[in-house]
Amino acid sequence: MHLMKGRTIGFVPTMGALHEGHLSLIKRAKMENDITVASIFVNPAQFGPTEDLEKYPRDIENDTIKLRRHEIDILLLPDRNLMYTNGFSTYINVDPLSEKLCGMFRPGHFKGVATVVAKLLNIVSPTRAYFGQKDFQQTVIIKRMVKDLNLGVDIVVCPTIREHDGLAMSSRNSYLDGEQRKAAPVLYRCLNKASDAIKSGIINTEQIKELMTKALSDKALITQIDYASVYHPETLEEIKEIKGEVLIAAAVRIGDTRLIDNMPVNL
Ligand code: PAJ
Repeated sequence: MHLMKGRTIGFVPTMGALHEGHLSLIKRAKMENDITVASIFVNPAQFGPTEDLEKYPRDIENDTIKLRRHEIDILLLPDRNLMYTNGFSTYINVDPLSEKLCGMFRPGHFKGVATVVAKLLNIVSPTRAYFGQKDFQQTVIIKRMVKDLNLGVDIVVCPTIREHDGLAMSSRNSYLDGEQRKAAPVLYRCLNKASDAIKSGIINTEQIKELMTKALSDKALITQIDYASVYHPETLEEIKEIKGEVLIAAAVRIGDTRLIDNMPVNL
């Protein structure tokens, strides 16, 4: 451990099936720290009983090659049974943030996220930990937890990396078939439309919501809209009248696949 003394540690927690979004966090962590640590752990505690824990993409061989290429120093591959030993009973609830947005549709999800991130931060003891803005709610919850529990780590939020057609990169995009993949960028287009409308002076959330729902309904392959609206970027409450900094966010389903995306707007 004395090797680490006086050196900064940058930590990037992931669930693997690494893409350019994950790798952008690694690059940033490498740039800003002496030592870079990544973890790959498909955390069972953050999946609901009917969710995709078993089919979640796993590709440890390619992930290892990518991480070698990026010359990270340490890869942590925690064992499920060691992370959650028999009788495990301590969970972290960041209420009411956990109940908003995705929390309404994925009960218990953020409790699982907060718990595993706290465990990983305690194991690695990093100077800084890196998270993607793609999962905006996750970053808000983790920042709150770090502050509330004096975890003493800097949380760095990095921009969303997208495919050429605007679709936010996600390990779950691999679930989409050809037609669904073609339809998926509608989510990003919908956020752009909302952002343009807000910037052009529409400050009534109902109007923005209507515009978003209409944009998403254009694509028959969108089978469900979980939410699509404008939120306060810190409390994650839906707001009535748009002013200052706001967050436009949406979650939709294409077949069985759930996609999320968001866009902060500063008036
Ligand atoms: P995972 O979905 O693997 O994502 C790991 C990190 O990569 C998260 O911080 C996520 O926001 C970021 N990320 C994903 N797609 C991105 C994109 N297109 N652009 C930029 N960053 C992106 O998020 C999790 O895992 C888990 O909840 C975890 C924090 C590891 C706890 O289990």
